[in-house]
Amino acid sequence: MDIDFIYPYSHTVSHLKSSDIRDLMKYAIHPGFISFAGGMPNNHLFPVDETEEIYHNLPEDIKESAFQYGPTTGMPALREAVKKYMKTKGISFDTHDVLITTGSLQGIYIISELFLNPGDTVLAELPSFVGALTLFKSFQARIEAVPMDDNGIKPEALKQAYEKNPHAKFLYVIPNFHNPAGLIYNKERRKFLLDFIKEKQLILLEDDPYNELFFDNETETLTKPVLGTADTKTARQIIYAGTFSKILAPGFRLGWLILPKEIMNKAEIIKQSLDACSPNFSQVIAEAFMRQGYMHKYLEKIRPEYKIRRDLVLEAVEKYFPSYVKYVKPKGGFYLWIELPEDISATKVLDYAIKNGVVFVSGKSFAPDDSLTNAFRIAYSNVDLHQIDRGIKVIGEGIREAMKTA
Ligand SMILES: Cc1ncc(COP(=O)(O)O)c(C=O)c1O
Repeated sequence: MDIDFIYPYSHTVSHLKSSDIRDLMKYAIHPGFISFAGGMPNNHLFPVDETEEIYHNLPEDIKESAFQYGPTTGMPALREAVKKYMKTKGISFDTHDVLITTGSLQGIYIISELFLNPGDTVLAELPSFVGALTLFKSFQARIEAVPMDDNGIKPEALKQAYEKNPHAKFLYVIPNFHNPAGLIYNKERRKFLLDFIKEKQLILLEDDPYNELFFDNETETLTKPVLGTADTKTARQIIYAGTFSKILAPGFRLGWLILPKEIMNKAEIIKQSLDACSPNFSQVIAEAFMRQGYMHKYLEKIRPEYKIRRDLVLEAVEKYFPSYVKYVKPKGGFYLWIELPEDISATKVLDYAIKNGVVFVSGKSFAPDDSLTNAFRIAYSNVDLHQIDRGIKVIGEGIREAMKTA
């Protein structure tokens, strides 16, 4: 007898759906398309020559070790380099330690596995990073989305969300050059986060991939991690996720967690079961990149490049978008977040844009509840300079078209 084979999917997988971003990537790589979709570094800015030089000059024994497995917690010299680097951001290693991860997304995965049971609540900003939202959902967590204003998460909304969910396990935030909202938390909002978690059974998961991508010196002073300003007691409730993806290359798949010492052991066991160790090859290069001063020079080179793209996008938005469109000027990072009047659908704007060779990501991809239908994200990081004006013009036309049917 013929049996029709049916794959016995887990509960987790049955709840997952493909993200719009993944679906849109097919357009993003289509030749001729102007893509504001992928939140990725610029292809032409990677430190290719620097990496070749570093590898070429490595001693033979280090080259050999680059091909080998390494310790689960990470290559000791890289952990030291990251510690030294994070100390410059005010983070004390008496209370915390470093775990090297395979990208910061793996760091967020490890934290989720450490703390989340099915049905647990995670508090997250609205909008939030789609990769983390998908990950929390894969742990069958409930996400309570907390709205933001121009300065970060809204204090009153967070208080209410916590009152509704007093057993929430953690609060996930991206205070610097937010993905997708493009904003940076001001000093008061950072302090509010610390005051808020104090004396509560609540962990703050601080995700900070864009920390170094500020566009001016005044903004740099704002980028200090929240963990770096916490007192010793409150710091025990904070976990920091960093990454090499935006300061070196996402292809290296390398990030780090700064963890309170008492949870390091359990986090290491989880990582061991995931991939035993992060790529040693990447770690060897990243360590030399930091120690030999390449990183500093590289950042000095790329910050103005992203600023140029930000400026061109803003100039075109001023020129082509109707005046009822709202946005906050990004002071760093990769993203501009656009808000339309409530009755205009960003999906309609996107349909028009795609028909005319332009792609971006609509707001609902960044909302756990598919809200934010009137918003969208423009990623200006990996678009050719000469295409920006034309791309934004098409989106502007799309907004006016969508307005007609609103
Ligand atoms: C806010 C945020 N967190 C984490 C990540 C994941 O980075 P990684 O490449 O280190 O896994 C990204 C990537 O775009 C991001 O925007």
